[in-house]
This record gives sequence, structure tokens and C-alpha cells, in this order.
Amino acid sequence: MRILVTGGAGYIGSHAVRALSRAGHQPVVLDNLVYGHDDIARQVLGVPLIEGQVGDRPLLDTVLQGNHPALQGTGLEGRPIEAVLHFAAYAYVGESVKDPARYYRNNLGDTLTLLEALVAPERGGNPIPIVFSSTCATYGVPQQVPITEDHPQAPINPYGRSKWMVEQLLHDFSYAYGLPCVIFRYFNAAGADPEGDLGEDHDPETHLIPRVLDVMSGREPYLQIFGDDYPTPDGTCIRDYIHVCDLADAHVLGLERLLRLRERQEETRSPLIYNLGNGTGYSVQQVIEAAKAVTGRGLLAHVARRREGDPAQLVASAERARQDLAWRPRYPDLATILEHAWAWHQHRHGV
Ligand code: UFG
Repeated sequence: MRILVTGGAGYIGSHAVRALSRAGHQPVVLDNLVYGHDDIARQVLGVPLIEGQVGDRPLLDTVLQGNHPALQGTGLEGRPIEAVLHFAAYAYVGESVKDPARYYRNNLGDTLTLLEALVAPERGGNPIPIVFSSTCATYGVPQQVPITEDHPQAPINPYGRSKWMVEQLLHDFSYAYGLPCVIFRYFNAAGADPEGDLGEDHDPETHLIPRVLDVMSGREPYLQIFGDDYPTPDGTCIRDYIHVCDLADAHVLGLERLLRLRERQEETRSPLIYNLGNGTGYSVQQVIEAAKAVTGRGLLAHVARRREGDPAQLVASAERARQDLAWRPRYPDLATILEHAWAWHQHRHGV
């Protein structure tokens, strides 16, 4: 199938592009390249890359019809897109607090434009299915863990709220226009493709695992541990780290499930919603210890003040994805996630 991947030059999107190609689909990437990487899309993945904004409706219409010049000579020209995986978003929690307008414009406003294009009248009542990247940040501070999909959603920052608002749009679009959609709520995406040529490369980098590796490889002098007085066994925050390739696989399965439902003419009229995590939590301290074992390196760490908006524990129940999608994470253990992240880190940064 011909699949538009917004944000396909970014971390999770690029792994999904590879998973789609391996499953026999034909991905086309749309990315504004603000945080995505041109070289990843063009050279590593070898798929068509269209540089642009998801909120550019004329551009979207051209791409969805297969009429964009970047598709010339790819065998995709003139052939309409059949489904969309929508990863494109800004995802810095701290920045979203300081500049919410940027987050609502990009994550919410542009997504509304995309959804309007997917249900446009010229589709003759056959909206283009969409798989949307949401986040455990839509739950806010959990009332209990593990978190199931019906846990109340009360996001505590503009980033989480922008994702939650898109979820509301999807409910309404699904009900009103029959838009087939899957919502995935990721827990902490981590790791890298085992081939070593795809992985996480954020600038600035805020995530724990790449920051630990930056210190271990000498790219940064020390790590700050944001708080060691949380109500957890060692006082540091607990997260559910899920391998990025397992996230990518879930997208292929989610998409295939949507298409099967449509073939059987089973109208869902509400989004299919799945948490994606391993169901096991690791503290910041445990991540550091595991990284030392994997890399054989030490690191200097200082305990700093708590980072605003960090819940003590976020751990998924992903039973629904296991049941409905037969999703089975291939790399559930933290050591493997770290090994793959380390191989990529060394490749990307030449360290
Ligand atoms: N941490 C440190 N030091 C660091 C970086 C992180 O101690 O230098 C701690 C954090 O305080 C947190 C844990 O490590 O307790 C994990 O932090 P990350 O920044 O790696 O990830 P988050 O848990 O903050 O991720 C959240 C949500 C995601 C969301 C993401 C946006 O879980 O759903 O923020 O970047 F997408």
C-alpha cells in the first residue's frame, strides 16, 4: 500500500518507514525537517521525501493524489495515498510550557488540516485511514499503575494537551465522517534499529537514555538525575521503556487491522486506542546501572532538583494491543534496548 508517513524523517517515524517497507508497503515521507533528518529519509531509508508542513493544505492535496514532483519516477506518481501514519509533532514538554502557541499550531492546528483533507468530499465518502501517535503524557499523573487505556486522561502540560485534543478530534471525525483511525499512546520510546543505521538524534536531547550515553561516550561531562526523593524504591522516577522497533511493528499491525475492519465493512465509528509499552518499569538509577553493564563505561552523575511535570511512575498495561493486534514486543528487555541505542550512538557520533 502507498502510505504517507508524516514525521517520517524523525526518530519513531523513520523506524516505522523501515517497518512498512519490510512489510511490503510503499512509504512516502512528509517532514518539515525542523527536527527530522534529511539524510535519514533519503539515504538510509531510500524513500521519497517531501519537505513541507502538514498544515499546508494545497501541498497535502497534491501529495495525497500522488501528484507531487518528488514522486516522479518512483512508480508512485499519479497514484493516490491509501493510508496515513501521522508522527509529525513537536515533543519537548518544557518548550511547550514556554511557547504553547507553537505546540497548538503545529500539533493540533496542522493535524486538523490533515484530518479535513482525509475526509474531504472528493474522497466520495471513503476517508483515508490514519494511525495517530499519541502519548502516555495524555494521562497526566496516574491514579494507578499499570495504566490501562480507560484510565482518566488529565494531561498536565501543553504538549500532552495538544495530543489529547487531537484524540478528541479523532473521536469526532470517526463518529461524524467514518474516519478509520488508530490511536497509539506510547510510553518511553527508546533503543534503535539493530542494524545500527537508524536511531534517536534530537537537538537538543532531553531524553534519559541518549543523555546517559552522551556522558558515557564523553560528549557531555555529567548526567543530572532529576530528583531522588520520589516515592519509588530508590527515589528516582520509574518509566516503561519500549523499543522503537516494537513501536514501529505495532503501527503496521494497527494499520492492517483497520484495513481488515474496512474490508469486512465493519464500521467502527470510534478510534481503536492502544497503549504501547512493556508493562515493566525501570528507575533512572536502574537505567544508569544497566547502561554501565552494556557499555562497560562509567559516568559522573549529580542529583539535581526534580524536573517540573515528571510523574513518579509511568508503566503501561498494553494487554489490549497484545490481544487485538497480536502485538508481541521483540526486544522487551532493557539491556537489549540499551545495546541497540549504544550501537547507534557510536555509529552516529563516531565515538
Ligand atoms: N531524566 C533525568 N535526567 C535527564 C533526563 C531525564 O533524570 O537528563 C529522568 C526524567 O526526569 C524522567 C526519566 O528520566 O524521570 C525519563 O525522562 P525522559 O525525558 O527520557 O522521558 P519522559 O518520561 O519525560 O517522557 C515523556 C513521556 C513521553 C513523551 C515525552 C516527550 O513519557 O510520552 O515525555 O519528550 F513523549
